[in-house]
Amino acid sequence: MSRKPLITALAFGSATLAGGASLDFDPAQYSEKTATVNGETITYRAYENIPYVANPVDAAHQTINIYIPAAYYNGGSINGYTAATAPIYLPNQIGGYMPASAGVPGASGFGPKKEGADAMQTALAKGYIVASPGARGRISADGKAPAAIIDLKAAVRYLKHNDANMAGDAGKIISNGTSAGGALSILLGASSNAPDYDAALKTLGAAEAPDDIYAVSAYCPISILDHADSAYEWEFHGVNDYEKIDARQVDYHVERQLQKGTLSAAEQQTSADLKAQFPAYLNSLNLKNTDGTPLTLDADGNGSFRDAIAAYLGKSAETALKNGQTTVAQLAADHPWLTLDGDRVTTVDFAAYAKTIGRQKTPPAFDALDLSSGENQLFGSASEDKRHFTAYSQAHSSVAGAGMADDATIKQMNPLHYISDKTAPQHWRIRVGTADSDTSHAIAVILASKLANSGKTVDLAMPWQVPHSGDYDLDELFAWMDNVVKNSQP
Ligand code: DHB
Repeated sequence: MSRKPLITALAFGSATLAGGASLDFDPAQYSEKTATVNGETITYRAYENIPYVANPVDAAHQTINIYIPAAYYNGGSINGYTAATAPIYLPNQIGGYMPASAGVPGASGFGPKKEGADAMQTALAKGYIVASPGARGRISADGKAPAAIIDLKAAVRYLKHNDANMAGDAGKIISNGTSAGGALSILLGASSNAPDYDAALKTLGAAEAPDDIYAVSAYCPISILDHADSAYEWEFHGVNDYEKIDARQVDYHVERQLQKGTLSAAEQQTSADLKAQFPAYLNSLNLKNTDGTPLTLDADGNGSFRDAIAAYLGKSAETALKNGQTTVAQLAADHPWLTLDGDRVTTVDFAAYAKTIGRQKTPPAFDALDLSSGENQLFGSASEDKRHFTAYSQAHSSVAGAGMADDATIKQMNPLHYISDKTAPQHWRIRVGTADSDTSHAIAVILASKLANSGKTVDLAMPWQVPHSGDYDLDELFAWMDNVVKNSQP
């Protein structure tokens, strides 16, 4: 709840478009729930299945669940936060660019169910308001790009619109997501208040409010989709055996099924073509390292940008040694891509690293020539379920008459177009594990560099041996959140 007087809400009247549902938060519509976090019982109010747009087109997914610690209704404080100051934790549940339901404490997150409290329960125990939006996804005609980002922005607008009569500070919204959800978390921050999305938000009857957020957390973002194919081959060219996710799997919240194979000669040629595209693209971004030196690649794909990724990998191994997660002997036996001097990493062989972690996608990794990828479906339209979204795959398509997504949509899905020194969130945390081969490690480093070069504060790390997953370091995640809320200048 900000210091804004209730009278502002009255002055604007209720936020509805003609014929639409009310977008005014009703504090009386809740049920009381409890969770056990670290042996302690916490009580919270659950406001569930709230439509966040006046004119939903997918009523099952365009809803938000909001959870508020009960202590805030008795003047209490938790972790230094009160009803007026509590930050709002905004975890989306999007995986695979599929439709996502609003998250529920105790049932959120990805992969096999972990022991202990999940991120939403942990957030409540630490005094955060939890607001988890659902969003449309690629399998429905109205869920094509950019539907999911429009939905997340509409959810933020709902929270801002209701700031005066809801506990929590809508000036302190912190987004979180994993994989496709991580990419959308980054895009949500990057595109804060960007006019490109206004028309779609208006059509849905989103609340008349801004959609900037305060901070962004993202795990293994499947982002920069229109250049992810060349980034992938830059990392994995020469690795011809793969273990690919079974394309028939549509639920990204469960353990994955993998299919083994080896690239054909034609696929190896595609890999070479795409790898060759990457240096020119990377150089066009004009990125700089934290010390101001340019991040570049030569025509063979070698250079300071690759060295920067190698440095993250080396640091990851050193941290793992320090934490007792591995030993020098284990590294020597299982990770021949690392050279050590005592417990210091001296060299990282990037090509050998890619071989060790293994390829998980066939080229092109995202814009498949036969339109078989999830991303092809994401970039489809209401009349054409799957389309291309890169010039290379459109030109080499194996599907007669395959269409191409329009430039405006492709732009709306790529956060790089929106990151500048004016980008609203100051604080960014990105994690991608060293054992993750769902997309190139270049993606996270491009995002982090672009953000840092735009004056943002970025915390990027590559946790040792962590596969494609999220929310695995909740203590560190919430320590980061508390720090960016409590210790940053207004
Ligand atoms: C996800 C994983 C992928 O490999 C991909 O291409 C898109 C999304 C996911 O887990 O969300």
